[in-house]
Amino acid sequence: MHITVIGTGYVGLVTGACFSEMGNHVTCVDVDKAKIENLKNGVLPIYEPGLEGLVTSNHKLGLLNFTTDLSEAMTHSDLFFIAVGTPPGEDGSADLRYVLTVAREIGENLSRYGVIVDKSTVPVGTADKVRQVVQGELDKRGVSVEFDVVSNPEFLKEGAAVGDFMRPDRVVIGTDSPRSEAIMKTLYAPFSRIQDKIVSMGIRDAEMTKYAANSLLATKISFMNEIAFMCEKLGVDVESVRKGIGSDSRIGYSFIYAGCGYGGSCFPKDVQALIRSAGEVGFTPLILKAVETRNAFQKKRLFEKVVAHFGDDLTGRRFGVWGLAFKPGTDDMREAPAVVVIDQLIAAGATVTAYDPVAMEEAGQSLAGHLKSGSLTLADHQYDAVKDVDAMLLVTEWKPFRQPDFEAMKRLMAQPVIFDGRNQYNPEQLKTEGFHYEGIGR
Ligand SMILES: NC(=O)c1ccc[n+]([C@@H]2O[C@H](COP(=O)([O-])OP(=O)(O)OC[C@H]3O[C@@H](n4cnc5c(N)ncnc54)[C@H](O)[C@@H]3O)[C@@H](O)[C@H]2O)c1
Repeated sequence: MHITVIGTGYVGLVTGACFSEMGNHVTCVDVDKAKIENLKNGVLPIYEPGLEGLVTSNHKLGLLNFTTDLSEAMTHSDLFFIAVGTPPGEDGSADLRYVLTVAREIGENLSRYGVIVDKSTVPVGTADKVRQVVQGELDKRGVSVEFDVVSNPEFLKEGAAVGDFMRPDRVVIGTDSPRSEAIMKTLYAPFSRIQDKIVSMGIRDAEMTKYAANSLLATKISFMNEIAFMCEKLGVDVESVRKGIGSDSRIGYSFIYAGCGYGGSCFPKDVQALIRSAGEVGFTPLILKAVETRNAFQKKRLFEKVVAHFGDDLTGRRFGVWGLAFKPGTDDMREAPAVVVIDQLIAAGATVTAYDPVAMEEAGQSLAGHLKSGSLTLADHQYDAVKDVDAMLLVTEWKPFRQPDFEAMKRLMAQPVIFDGRNQYNPEQLKTEGFHYEGIGR
Protein backbone atom coordinates (compact mmCIF):
# COMPACT_ATOMS: atom_id res chain seq x y z
CA MET A 1 0.00 0.00 0.00
CA HIS A 2 1.03 3.63 -0.43
CA ILE A 3 0.76 5.54 2.81
CA THR A 4 1.39 9.10 3.93
CA VAL A 5 1.99 9.67 7.64
CA ILE A 6 1.62 13.30 8.65
CA GLY A 7 3.52 14.23 11.81
CA THR A 8 6.84 12.46 12.28
CA GLY A 9 7.09 12.37 16.06
CA TYR A 10 7.05 9.34 18.35
CA VAL A 11 3.85 7.95 16.90
CA GLY A 12 4.25 9.04 13.29
CA LEU A 13 7.82 7.85 12.90
CA VAL A 14 7.20 4.49 14.55
CA THR A 15 3.99 4.01 12.52
CA GLY A 16 5.75 4.89 9.27
CA ALA A 17 8.79 2.74 9.99
CA CYS A 18 6.69 -0.30 10.98
CA PHE A 19 4.36 -0.07 7.97
CA SER A 20 7.39 0.20 5.67
CA GLU A 21 8.96 -2.82 7.37
CA MET A 22 5.95 -4.83 6.12
CA GLY A 23 6.67 -3.79 2.53
CA ASN A 24 4.42 -0.74 2.25
CA HIS A 25 5.59 2.47 0.59
CA VAL A 26 5.50 5.14 3.27
CA THR A 27 6.16 8.86 3.14
CA CYS A 28 6.54 10.60 6.49
CA VAL A 29 5.70 14.29 6.39
CA ASP A 30 6.57 16.94 8.97
CA VAL A 31 6.60 20.73 9.10
CA ASP A 32 9.90 20.60 10.98
CA LYS A 33 12.48 20.98 8.18
CA ALA A 34 15.47 20.13 10.38
CA LYS A 35 13.78 16.92 11.56
CA ILE A 36 13.11 15.83 7.97
CA GLU A 37 16.65 16.68 6.81
CA ASN A 38 18.11 14.73 9.74
CA LEU A 39 15.90 11.74 9.02
CA LYS A 40 17.01 11.74 5.38
CA ASN A 41 20.56 11.48 6.74
CA GLY A 42 19.68 8.71 9.19
CA VAL A 43 19.63 10.97 12.26
CA LEU A 44 16.59 10.21 14.44
CA PRO A 45 14.85 12.91 16.51
CA ILE A 46 14.07 10.53 19.37
CA TYR A 47 15.59 7.61 21.24
CA GLU A 48 13.49 4.49 20.84
CA PRO A 49 14.94 0.96 21.01
CA GLY A 50 15.01 -0.75 17.60
CA LEU A 51 13.73 2.25 15.66
CA GLU A 52 16.99 3.42 14.09
CA GLY A 53 17.57 0.06 12.36
CA LEU A 54 14.05 0.03 10.90
CA VAL A 55 14.29 3.61 9.68
CA THR A 56 17.70 3.30 8.04
CA SER A 57 17.11 -0.10 6.39
CA ASN A 58 13.71 0.84 4.94
CA HIS A 59 14.95 4.26 3.85
CA LYS A 60 17.78 2.51 1.97
CA LEU A 61 15.26 0.15 0.34
CA GLY A 62 13.26 3.17 -0.82
CA LEU A 63 10.21 2.08 1.19
CA LEU A 64 10.41 4.88 3.75
CA ASN A 65 10.83 8.47 2.65
CA PHE A 66 10.71 11.85 4.35
CA THR A 67 9.45 15.19 3.12
CA THR A 68 8.00 18.51 4.22
CA ASP A 69 5.80 18.61 1.11
CA LEU A 70 2.41 17.07 1.90
CA SER A 71 0.87 17.73 -1.51
CA GLU A 72 3.74 15.90 -3.24
CA ALA A 73 3.48 12.97 -0.77
CA MET A 74 -0.28 12.76 -1.30
CA THR A 75 -0.02 12.22 -5.06
CA HIS A 76 1.32 8.72 -4.39
CA SER A 77 -0.95 7.69 -1.47
CA ASP A 78 -4.41 6.38 -0.72
CA LEU A 79 -4.07 6.28 3.07
CA PHE A 80 -3.34 9.37 5.14
CA PHE A 81 -2.43 8.96 8.78
CA ILE A 82 -2.76 12.06 10.94
CA ALA A 83 -0.19 11.65 13.74
CA VAL A 84 0.41 15.23 14.87
CA GLY A 85 0.40 16.36 18.50
CA THR A 86 -2.81 17.09 20.43
CA PRO A 87 -1.38 19.04 23.38
CA PRO A 88 -3.55 20.42 26.15
CA GLY A 89 -5.07 23.80 25.38
CA GLU A 90 -5.27 26.51 28.05
CA ASP A 91 -8.40 24.94 29.54
CA GLY A 92 -6.98 21.39 29.48
CA SER A 93 -9.01 20.23 26.48
CA ALA A 94 -7.15 18.63 23.56
CA ASP A 95 -5.91 21.34 21.20
CA LEU A 96 -7.02 20.16 17.76
CA ARG A 97 -5.40 22.94 15.79
CA TYR A 98 -2.66 20.71 14.31
CA VAL A 99 -5.10 17.91 13.45
CA LEU A 100 -7.51 20.30 11.73
CA THR A 101 -4.68 22.08 9.88
CA VAL A 102 -3.64 18.74 8.44
CA ALA A 103 -7.29 17.94 7.58
CA ARG A 104 -7.48 21.22 5.68
CA GLU A 105 -4.27 20.45 3.79
CA ILE A 106 -5.55 16.99 2.91
CA GLY A 107 -8.77 18.56 1.61
CA GLU A 108 -6.75 21.01 -0.47
CA ASN A 109 -4.89 18.17 -2.19
CA LEU A 110 -7.18 15.13 -2.25
CA SER A 111 -7.76 14.06 -5.86
CA ARG A 112 -9.06 10.46 -5.61
CA TYR A 113 -10.67 8.20 -3.02
CA GLY A 114 -8.60 8.14 0.16
CA VAL A 115 -8.86 6.97 3.75
CA ILE A 116 -7.98 9.62 6.33
CA VAL A 117 -6.95 8.00 9.59
CA ASP A 118 -6.93 9.80 12.95
CA LYS A 119 -3.94 8.22 14.71
CA SER A 120 -3.51 11.12 17.12
CA THR A 121 -5.35 10.86 20.42
CA VAL A 122 -8.45 12.98 19.85
CA PRO A 123 -11.72 13.58 21.72
CA VAL A 124 -14.99 11.95 20.71
CA GLY A 125 -16.41 13.80 17.71
CA THR A 126 -13.06 14.76 16.15
CA ALA A 127 -13.51 12.48 13.13
CA ASP A 128 -16.70 14.41 12.33
CA LYS A 129 -14.74 17.68 12.51
CA VAL A 130 -12.00 16.27 10.26
CA ARG A 131 -14.65 15.12 7.78
CA GLN A 132 -16.28 18.58 7.75
CA VAL A 133 -12.97 20.37 7.22
CA VAL A 134 -11.92 18.06 4.36
CA GLN A 135 -15.36 18.32 2.73
CA GLY A 136 -15.25 22.10 3.13
CA GLU A 137 -11.98 22.26 1.19
CA LEU A 138 -13.30 19.96 -1.53
CA ASP A 139 -16.41 22.18 -1.84
CA LYS A 140 -14.20 25.27 -2.10
CA ARG A 141 -12.34 23.59 -4.93
CA GLY A 142 -15.65 22.61 -6.51
CA VAL A 143 -14.58 18.98 -6.80
CA SER A 144 -16.33 15.79 -5.80
CA VAL A 145 -13.99 13.21 -4.30
CA GLU A 146 -15.03 10.33 -2.08
CA PHE A 147 -13.17 9.80 1.18
CA ASP A 148 -13.60 8.09 4.54
CA VAL A 149 -12.42 9.13 7.98
CA VAL A 150 -11.29 6.37 10.34
CA SER A 151 -10.25 6.41 14.00
CA ASN A 152 -7.24 4.20 14.69
CA PRO A 153 -5.86 5.26 18.08
CA GLU A 154 -2.33 4.24 18.94
CA PHE A 155 -1.48 2.30 22.12
CA LEU A 156 2.33 2.07 21.83
CA LYS A 157 4.44 2.79 24.91
CA GLU A 158 7.47 5.03 24.63
CA GLY A 159 10.54 2.93 25.35
CA ALA A 160 8.92 -0.16 23.78
CA ALA A 161 7.19 1.53 20.85
CA VAL A 162 8.50 -0.64 18.01
CA GLY A 163 7.70 -3.90 19.82
CA ASP A 164 4.25 -2.61 20.74
CA PHE A 165 3.50 -1.60 17.16
CA MET A 166 4.83 -4.81 15.62
CA ARG A 167 3.12 -7.07 18.19
CA PRO A 168 0.08 -5.10 19.37
CA ASP A 169 -2.29 -6.34 22.07
CA ARG A 170 -5.07 -5.04 19.84
CA VAL A 171 -5.62 -2.77 16.85
CA VAL A 172 -8.69 -0.61 17.34
CA ILE A 173 -10.36 0.43 14.11
CA GLY A 174 -13.30 2.80 14.28
CA THR A 175 -15.10 3.08 10.95
CA ASP A 176 -18.51 3.74 9.47
CA SER A 177 -17.87 2.32 6.01
CA PRO A 178 -17.17 -1.28 4.95
CA ARG A 179 -14.79 0.02 2.27
CA SER A 180 -12.41 1.77 4.67
CA GLU A 181 -12.75 -1.03 7.22
CA ALA A 182 -11.59 -3.58 4.63
CA ILE A 183 -8.59 -1.40 3.70
CA MET A 184 -7.59 -0.97 7.35
CA LYS A 185 -7.91 -4.70 8.01
CA THR A 186 -5.68 -5.48 5.02
CA LEU A 187 -3.10 -2.95 6.19
CA TYR A 188 -2.95 -4.40 9.70
CA ALA A 189 -3.17 -8.07 8.69
CA PRO A 190 0.65 -8.60 8.93
CA PHE A 191 0.56 -7.35 12.54
CA SER A 192 -2.26 -9.70 13.41
CA ARG A 193 -1.15 -13.03 11.92
CA ILE A 194 -0.83 -15.31 14.95
CA GLN A 195 -4.11 -14.25 16.40
CA ASP A 196 -6.75 -11.74 15.27
CA LYS A 197 -5.85 -8.49 17.00
CA ILE A 198 -8.30 -6.25 15.18
CA VAL A 199 -11.17 -4.82 17.17
CA SER A 200 -13.64 -3.05 14.89
CA MET A 201 -16.11 -0.55 16.29
CA GLY A 202 -17.82 2.75 15.63
CA ILE A 203 -15.66 5.85 15.15
CA ARG A 204 -16.77 7.55 18.37
CA ASP A 205 -16.29 4.29 20.29
CA ALA A 206 -12.68 4.11 19.06
CA GLU A 207 -12.00 7.72 20.03
CA MET A 208 -13.31 7.07 23.55
CA THR A 209 -11.43 3.75 23.84
CA LYS A 210 -8.05 5.51 23.74
CA TYR A 211 -8.96 7.98 26.50
CA ALA A 212 -10.57 5.27 28.62
CA ALA A 213 -7.45 3.08 28.32
CA ASN A 214 -4.99 5.81 29.34
CA SER A 215 -7.25 7.10 32.09
CA LEU A 216 -7.69 3.63 33.57
CA LEU A 217 -3.92 3.09 33.62
CA ALA A 218 -3.42 6.48 35.28
CA THR A 219 -6.17 5.56 37.76
CA LYS A 220 -4.35 2.36 38.72
CA ILE A 221 -1.18 4.33 39.44
CA SER A 222 -2.93 7.04 41.44
CA PHE A 223 -4.92 4.44 43.35
CA MET A 224 -1.73 2.65 44.32
CA ASN A 225 -0.09 5.92 45.35
CA GLU A 226 -3.05 6.61 47.60
CA ILE A 227 -2.71 3.16 49.18
CA ALA A 228 1.04 3.84 49.55
CA PHE A 229 0.40 6.98 51.57
CA MET A 230 -1.83 5.03 53.93
CA CYS A 231 0.76 2.26 54.15
CA GLU A 232 3.34 4.76 55.40
CA LYS A 233 1.00 5.98 58.10
CA LEU A 234 -0.11 2.49 59.14
CA GLY A 235 3.29 0.77 59.19
CA VAL A 236 2.67 -1.34 56.09
CA ASP A 237 5.04 -2.04 53.15
CA VAL A 238 3.21 -1.20 49.92
CA GLU A 239 5.53 -3.56 48.05
CA SER A 240 4.10 -6.53 49.93
CA VAL A 241 0.60 -5.24 49.23
CA ARG A 242 1.44 -4.84 45.53
CA LYS A 243 2.53 -8.47 45.27
CA GLY A 244 -0.44 -9.60 47.32
CA ILE A 245 -3.01 -7.90 45.09
CA GLY A 246 -1.18 -8.24 41.75
CA SER A 247 -1.30 -12.02 42.05
CA ASP A 248 -5.09 -11.78 41.75
CA SER A 249 -5.71 -12.30 38.02
CA ARG A 250 -8.62 -9.84 38.18
CA ILE A 251 -6.15 -7.12 39.22
CA GLY A 252 -2.83 -8.09 37.63
CA TYR A 253 0.68 -6.74 38.26
CA SER A 254 0.73 -3.97 35.66
CA PHE A 255 0.52 -0.32 36.65
CA ILE A 256 0.19 -0.92 40.38
CA TYR A 257 3.62 0.37 41.35
CA ALA A 258 3.67 3.13 43.92
CA GLY A 259 6.12 5.90 43.07
CA CYS A 260 6.72 9.60 42.64
CA GLY A 261 3.94 10.08 40.08
CA TYR A 262 3.23 9.52 36.41
CA GLY A 263 4.39 11.91 33.69
CA GLY A 264 4.98 11.85 29.96
CA SER A 265 3.17 13.32 27.02
CA CYS A 266 0.06 11.14 27.32
CA PHE A 267 -1.38 10.28 30.75
CA PRO A 268 -1.47 13.82 32.17
CA LYS A 269 -2.92 15.40 29.05
CA ASP A 270 -5.35 12.58 28.27
CA VAL A 271 -6.83 12.51 31.77
CA GLN A 272 -7.17 16.29 31.59
CA ALA A 273 -8.80 16.17 28.14
CA LEU A 274 -11.30 13.52 29.26
CA ILE A 275 -12.23 15.67 32.25
CA ARG A 276 -12.87 18.53 29.82
CA SER A 277 -14.93 16.32 27.51
CA ALA A 278 -17.05 15.31 30.51
CA GLY A 279 -17.53 18.98 31.37
CA GLU A 280 -18.77 19.68 27.86
CA VAL A 281 -21.67 17.28 28.38
CA GLY A 282 -22.37 18.65 31.86
CA PHE A 283 -20.86 15.76 33.80
CA THR A 284 -18.41 15.90 36.74
CA PRO A 285 -15.98 12.96 36.53
CA LEU A 286 -15.18 12.50 40.23
CA ILE A 287 -12.69 9.64 39.78
CA LEU A 288 -10.71 11.33 36.99
CA LYS A 289 -10.40 14.54 39.00
CA ALA A 290 -9.10 12.59 41.98
CA VAL A 291 -6.59 10.74 39.75
CA GLU A 292 -5.17 14.05 38.60
CA THR A 293 -5.07 15.58 42.09
CA ARG A 294 -3.36 12.52 43.57
CA ASN A 295 -0.71 12.61 40.84
CA ALA A 296 0.08 16.29 41.33
CA PHE A 297 0.51 15.55 45.04
CA GLN A 298 2.61 12.48 44.34
CA LYS A 299 5.12 14.35 42.19
CA LYS A 300 5.91 16.44 45.29
CA ARG A 301 6.19 13.45 47.62
CA LEU A 302 9.97 12.99 47.34
CA PHE A 303 10.58 16.64 48.14
CA GLU A 304 8.31 16.37 51.20
CA LYS A 305 10.46 13.48 52.40
CA VAL A 306 13.65 15.46 51.82
CA VAL A 307 12.25 18.39 53.82
CA ALA A 308 11.05 16.10 56.63
CA HIS A 309 14.63 14.79 56.89
CA PHE A 310 16.75 17.91 56.30
CA GLY A 311 14.34 20.78 57.16
CA ASP A 312 12.75 23.51 54.98
CA ASP A 313 15.93 25.43 54.26
CA LEU A 314 18.16 23.44 51.96
CA THR A 315 20.71 26.22 51.43
CA GLY A 316 24.15 24.71 50.97
CA ARG A 317 22.78 21.17 50.61
CA ARG A 318 23.67 19.07 47.58
CA PHE A 319 21.50 16.36 46.07
CA GLY A 320 22.11 13.76 43.41
CA VAL A 321 19.22 12.80 41.11
CA TRP A 322 19.25 9.52 39.20
CA GLY A 323 16.87 9.52 36.26
CA LEU A 324 15.36 12.47 34.36
CA ALA A 325 13.20 10.89 31.65
CA PHE A 326 9.57 10.40 32.67
CA LYS A 327 10.17 6.64 32.55
CA PRO A 328 12.97 4.24 31.58
CA GLY A 329 13.60 3.50 27.90
CA THR A 330 12.93 7.00 26.58
CA ASP A 331 14.56 10.42 26.49
CA ASP A 332 11.15 12.09 26.79
CA MET A 333 11.00 14.53 29.71
CA ARG A 334 7.53 15.96 29.11
CA GLU A 335 5.75 16.27 32.50
CA ALA A 336 8.59 14.27 34.09
CA PRO A 337 8.46 13.99 37.91
CA ALA A 338 12.23 14.70 37.92
CA VAL A 339 11.59 18.25 36.72
CA VAL A 340 9.18 18.88 39.62
CA VAL A 341 11.54 17.62 42.32
CA ILE A 342 14.58 19.41 40.85
CA ASP A 343 12.59 22.68 40.71
CA GLN A 344 11.56 22.21 44.35
CA LEU A 345 15.06 21.35 45.61
CA ILE A 346 16.58 24.34 43.88
CA ALA A 347 13.81 26.70 45.03
CA ALA A 348 14.61 25.62 48.61
CA GLY A 349 18.26 26.63 48.15
CA ALA A 350 19.89 23.31 47.23
CA THR A 351 22.16 22.47 44.32
CA VAL A 352 21.56 19.34 42.27
CA THR A 353 23.70 17.02 40.17
CA ALA A 354 21.67 14.80 37.87
CA TYR A 355 22.32 11.87 35.58
CA ASP A 356 20.19 9.97 33.06
CA PRO A 357 21.46 7.26 30.69
CA VAL A 358 19.77 8.80 27.60
CA ALA A 359 17.90 12.02 28.43
CA MET A 360 20.94 14.25 28.94
CA GLU A 361 20.48 16.15 25.68
CA GLU A 362 16.79 16.60 26.38
CA ALA A 363 17.65 17.75 29.93
CA GLY A 364 19.85 20.44 28.42
CA GLN A 365 16.63 21.99 27.07
CA SER A 366 14.04 21.06 29.72
CA LEU A 367 16.24 22.25 32.58
CA ALA A 368 18.13 25.00 30.73
CA GLY A 369 17.29 27.68 33.33
CA HIS A 370 18.78 25.74 36.25
CA LEU A 371 21.84 24.76 34.20
CA LYS A 372 22.43 28.40 33.30
CA SER A 373 22.06 29.56 36.89
CA GLY A 374 24.58 26.95 38.02
CA SER A 375 22.18 25.35 40.52
CA LEU A 376 22.03 22.19 38.41
CA THR A 377 24.92 20.21 36.94
CA LEU A 378 24.59 17.23 34.63
CA ALA A 379 27.01 14.41 35.48
CA ASP A 380 28.73 12.19 32.92
CA HIS A 381 28.26 9.09 35.01
CA GLN A 382 25.74 7.90 37.60
CA TYR A 383 28.40 7.77 40.34
CA ASP A 384 29.61 11.30 39.53
CA ALA A 385 26.06 12.44 40.34
CA VAL A 386 26.34 11.24 43.95
CA LYS A 387 29.76 12.66 44.74
CA ASP A 388 29.65 14.77 47.94
CA VAL A 389 25.83 14.85 48.02
CA ASP A 390 23.70 14.92 51.15
CA ALA A 391 21.29 12.45 49.57
CA MET A 392 20.52 10.62 46.35
CA LEU A 393 17.01 10.71 44.89
CA LEU A 394 16.06 7.89 42.52
CA VAL A 395 13.40 9.23 40.18
CA THR A 396 13.50 6.99 37.06
CA GLU A 397 14.14 3.27 37.46
CA TRP A 398 16.62 2.73 34.62
CA LYS A 399 18.25 -0.73 34.80
CA PRO A 400 21.78 0.53 35.70
CA PHE A 401 20.27 2.12 38.83
CA ARG A 402 18.63 -1.06 40.05
CA GLN A 403 21.63 -2.77 41.58
CA PRO A 404 24.27 -0.11 42.15
CA ASP A 405 27.52 -0.47 44.08
CA PHE A 406 26.26 0.76 47.46
CA GLU A 407 29.72 0.59 49.03
CA ALA A 408 31.11 2.91 46.36
CA MET A 409 28.11 5.20 46.79
CA LYS A 410 28.68 5.40 50.53
CA ARG A 411 32.30 6.37 49.99
CA LEU A 412 31.33 9.06 47.48
CA MET A 413 28.32 10.60 49.25
CA ALA A 414 28.68 13.20 52.01
CA GLN A 415 25.83 11.44 53.83
CA PRO A 416 24.47 7.93 53.16
CA VAL A 417 20.86 8.94 52.50
CA ILE A 418 18.64 7.55 49.71
CA PHE A 419 15.15 8.65 48.74
CA ASP A 420 13.87 5.94 46.44
CA GLY A 421 11.01 7.31 44.33
CA ARG A 422 10.50 3.97 42.57
CA ASN A 423 10.89 1.43 45.40
CA GLN A 424 13.83 -0.24 43.70
CA TYR A 425 15.88 -1.07 46.78
CA ASN A 426 15.50 -3.41 49.69
CA PRO A 427 15.05 -1.29 52.83
CA GLU A 428 16.56 -3.99 55.10
CA GLN A 429 19.64 -4.39 52.89
CA LEU A 430 20.23 -0.66 52.78
CA LYS A 431 19.86 -0.38 56.54
CA THR A 432 22.49 -3.11 56.93
CA GLU A 433 24.74 -1.25 54.49
CA GLY A 434 24.44 1.81 56.75
CA PHE A 435 22.07 3.97 54.67
CA HIS A 436 19.15 6.06 55.80
CA TYR A 437 16.55 4.83 53.29
CA GLU A 438 13.09 6.07 52.40
CA GLY A 439 10.88 4.63 49.70
CA ILE A 440 7.28 5.37 48.79
CA GLY A 441 4.69 3.65 50.98
CA ARG A 442 7.15 1.59 53.03
N1 LIG B 1 4.03 9.57 22.43
C1 LIG B 1 3.29 8.52 22.75
O1 LIG B 1 3.72 7.63 23.49
C2 LIG B 1 1.90 8.37 22.20
C3 LIG B 1 1.27 7.13 22.28
C4 LIG B 1 -0.01 6.99 21.77
C5 LIG B 1 -0.65 8.09 21.20
N2 LIG B 1 -0.02 9.30 21.17
C6 LIG B 1 -0.72 10.42 20.54
O2 LIG B 1 -0.23 10.56 19.21
C7 LIG B 1 -0.20 11.96 18.84
C8 LIG B 1 1.21 12.37 18.44
O3 LIG B 1 2.03 12.24 19.58
P1 LIG B 1 3.63 12.26 19.48
O4 LIG B 1 4.14 11.94 20.84
O5 LIG B 1 4.05 11.43 18.32
O6 LIG B 1 3.85 13.81 19.15
P2 LIG B 1 5.22 14.53 18.76
O7 LIG B 1 5.13 15.88 19.34
O8 LIG B 1 6.37 13.64 19.08
O9 LIG B 1 5.14 14.63 17.16
C9 LIG B 1 4.20 15.41 16.46
C10 LIG B 1 4.84 15.85 15.16
O10 LIG B 1 3.87 16.48 14.34
C11 LIG B 1 4.50 17.52 13.61
N3 LIG B 1 3.50 18.42 13.05
C12 LIG B 1 2.75 19.36 13.68
N4 LIG B 1 1.94 19.99 12.80
C13 LIG B 1 2.16 19.43 11.59
C14 LIG B 1 1.63 19.62 10.29
N5 LIG B 1 0.69 20.56 10.05
N6 LIG B 1 2.08 18.88 9.27
C15 LIG B 1 3.05 17.96 9.49
N7 LIG B 1 3.60 17.71 10.71
C16 LIG B 1 3.15 18.44 11.75
C17 LIG B 1 5.43 18.13 14.62
O11 LIG B 1 6.45 18.90 14.01
C18 LIG B 1 5.97 16.86 15.33
O12 LIG B 1 7.14 16.40 14.70
C19 LIG B 1 -0.76 12.71 20.05
O13 LIG B 1 -2.14 12.88 19.88
C20 LIG B 1 -0.50 11.76 21.20
O14 LIG B 1 -1.40 11.93 22.27
C21 LIG B 1 1.24 9.45 21.62
